[in-house]
Amino acid sequence: MPVVRGKNIEPLFTAEQIAERNHAMAKEIASGPTKDLLVIAVLKGSFIFAADLLRALHETGLAPEVEFITLSSYGAGTVSQGVRIVKDIDSDVKDRDVLLIDDILESGRTLRFAKELLYERGARHVSLAVLLDKSVKRQEELEADYVGFECPDYFVVGYGMDVAYAFRELPFVGVVTGDAAS
Ligand code: IMP
Ligand code: MG
Repeated sequence: MPVVRGKNIEPLFTAEQIAERNHAMAKEIASGPTKDLLVIAVLKGSFIFAADLLRALHETGLAPEVEFITLSSYGAGTVSQGVRIVKDIDSDVKDRDVLLIDDILESGRTLRFAKELLYERGARHVSLAVLLDKSVKRQEELEADYVGFECPDYFVVGYGMDVAYAFRELPFVGVVTGDAAS
């Protein structure tokens, strides 16, 4: 089992499995709405997935523009929860097809907020691509159009995803299972 920062990381989805899904997803995306396509990666967790998916999209012949948005959730537990824009996109989305890319669809709050925001700004069509779908945690009525993998209800790291900014560099998605024997 890989050991990183003194922790055992059990791989859940390997680099090879992820690469294969990315290419399959890119083909599905290419056959969907792609008029004047703008891809928006939701930072920070999606940065590696977005980088790989974009290169897979290039192989299908698509030539999208690419933007980034940084969103942050606030509130926890029983208090009302919301999403706020930390850093917005610069582009005009009016009458464009938009593909939002994120690492995990969990409660659905983040991507529901982003999708509604883009429709309010006049996007023609907004679709969602996520690497992982933790559908058991959903709180909002929202489904992704393109999903890499259904994710069990574990806190996962790697391939862009972190615990306190660590483990983003892992080429696979895994679960921290405990301290490695020293
Ligand atoms: P939600 O769908 O609004 O609940 O937000 C999901 C976001 O929470 C994702 O984009 C991730 O940034 C973060 N997140 C949820 N589950 C995990 C996890 O298991 N590992 C790392 N980040 C997570
Ligand atoms: Mg995120």
